[in-house]
Amino acid sequence: MNKATRRTVIAGNWKMNMTPSQTTAFIKELAPMVAGKDGCDIVLCVPAVDITPAVEAAKGTNIKVGAENVHYKESGAYTGELSAKMLTECGVEYVVIGHSERRQYFGETDQTVNLRTLAAVNAGLTAIVCVGETLEQRELGYTETLLKYQTKMALTNVKAEQLKNIIIAYEPVWAIGTGVTATADQADEGNGFVRAAVAEMFGAEAAEAITVQYGGSMNAKNAAELLSKVNVDGGLIGGASLKTADFTVIVDAAQ
Ligand code: 13P
Repeated sequence: MNKATRRTVIAGNWKMNMTPSQTTAFIKELAPMVAGKDGCDIVLCVPAVDITPAVEAAKGTNIKVGAENVHYKESGAYTGELSAKMLTECGVEYVVIGHSERRQYFGETDQTVNLRTLAAVNAGLTAIVCVGETLEQRELGYTETLLKYQTKMALTNVKAEQLKNIIIAYEPVWAIGTGVTATADQADEGNGFVRAAVAEMFGAEAAEAITVQYGGSMNAKNAAELLSKVNVDGGLIGGASLKTADFTVIVDAAQ
């Protein structure tokens, strides 16, 4: 396994954007624009209420649907949460876990990220697990330590054979929604730290096989350079995934 044989995954993370009707219209517009572009997996991670219209609109296309979070319990008194089974039954294939916005605003910790990751892969979902340092952590020189720690915490108790259902997204917090993108070298280095952590836990072969995305102000202009890097196997895209034309350019850059 190497960059050429690893699966490239271009995933949109819509965050709290798009209504159900906007979702249907968006996917109907996007589908012909990305049809036949099978050099990467194409995923849209959408708000909970948009899942069903997204799955419906994506039927028969090469667009796959993801959720933005999943709870770690199978059911119970967890108001506002969704179980893995609820998601899979709706046709969801991917789920974003541990996004920095969840960590920052909703009390997500490395422990809950780990539990959610286990619940996702045990249910057959592909988990897109987000890790990333703040600007302060970077300036203090802790980027490598932090990325390896977050990665290892997220993957605790994951079985080696489940790694094929895990994608790690390196998203430097300072680059998210700021318009400040990591340089391609910074993205490559950060993704390399993540890969090294996987190697330390599961061995070199597993590390070579795992898809590691970059996220943080990836857009139509910078995607090609970021995706050219040896450790960058795709992108997790916020703002630019809300425009069909921009998202298509990023998909094209991954072919
Ligand atoms: P932006 O692309 O808007 O910076 O968001 C990145 C992100 O957080 C994807 O999960």
